Amino acid sequence: MARRIVVTSGKGGVGKTTITANLGVELAKSGERVCLIDADIGLKNLDVLLGLEDRINYTIMDVINDMVEPMDALIRHPGVKNLFFLPASQIATKDMVSHKDIERIIERIEEHFDFILIDCPAGIEKGFKNATLPAKEALIVTNPELPAITDADRVIGLLESQGMPDTNIKVIINRIKFHLMKNGNMLTKKDIENALSIDVIGILPDSDEMIIAANKGVPIVLNDSSKITKVFNNIVRRIQGELVPVEADIDIFEKSGFMGFLKTLFSKS
Ligand SMILES: Nc1ncnc2c1ncn2[C@@H]1O[C@H](COP(=O)(O)OP(=O)(O)O)[C@@H](O)[C@H]1O
Ligand SMILES: [Mg+2]
Repeated sequence: MARRIVVTSGKGGVGKTTITANLGVELAKSGERVCLIDADIGLKNLDVLLGLEDRINYTIMDVINDMVEPMDALIRHPGVKNLFFLPASQIATKDMVSHKDIERIIERIEEHFDFILIDCPAGIEKGFKNATLPAKEALIVTNPELPAITDADRVIGLLESQGMPDTNIKVIINRIKFHLMKNGNMLTKKDIENALSIDVIGILPDSDEMIIAANKGVPIVLNDSSKITKVFNNIVRRIQGELVPVEADIDIFEKSGFMGFLKTLFSKS
């Protein structure tokens, strides 16, 4: 059966949808069969980030209303083998859907997939339950700032109260700013792990590349030479059980270039 992973956060705008899209593509690139579910019903933007908004024939509401078989509603990504997508509906609201509806959809498709990633809406109301209750694992996205971490902590508590073991919960830190990190003005991985008591599974920088890719509707991981792609690849390997130190995500950026060269030189002497 598929691993069911929800990408959630508490605070909105921290990068859940961006990370769901890129992680989905990178997992599929590594050979996994992946289905992405947009559970942000009423808003929807995973389709846009994937560049699939013009291909939508059916939405999750059509499946719930028995207008179409779930497998027939999925959009196959034209450029990424093994990547499928179930769009949210913009005309429906979160209250028109229950977690059981989503659970039933997953039960009917999961034999075809290795991974089902669910993109969670912001907040901790019904939409949160709809997206998280059908999942067995969670990736919590947070920015390295206190308000986001406080909300992440709250969400971790909710997931645990819903019966998810904390070993199934991992944190992705998004939008690290290296210049602040160097001055000691940014919360570190250790600070965040101490605050949340949950392991960090990936660290992504604040990057203009991400914004440009989002505006083009082309997931950044489709560019194999991007450093961001290397980070997503590390995260994928960790999800697959490989031991890749999380510090490697920062090294991708910090050990390159002339300053990095000097740093390596000095650290060896
Ligand atoms: N690492 C990053 N660097 C720069 N911008 C980012 C990064 N991650 C996300 N963003 C931007 O932040 C905004 C919110 O991201 P989004 O994925 O929609 O968040 P959420 O789904 O949590 O609301 C988007 O404009 C996105 O392009
Ligand atoms: Mg989102």
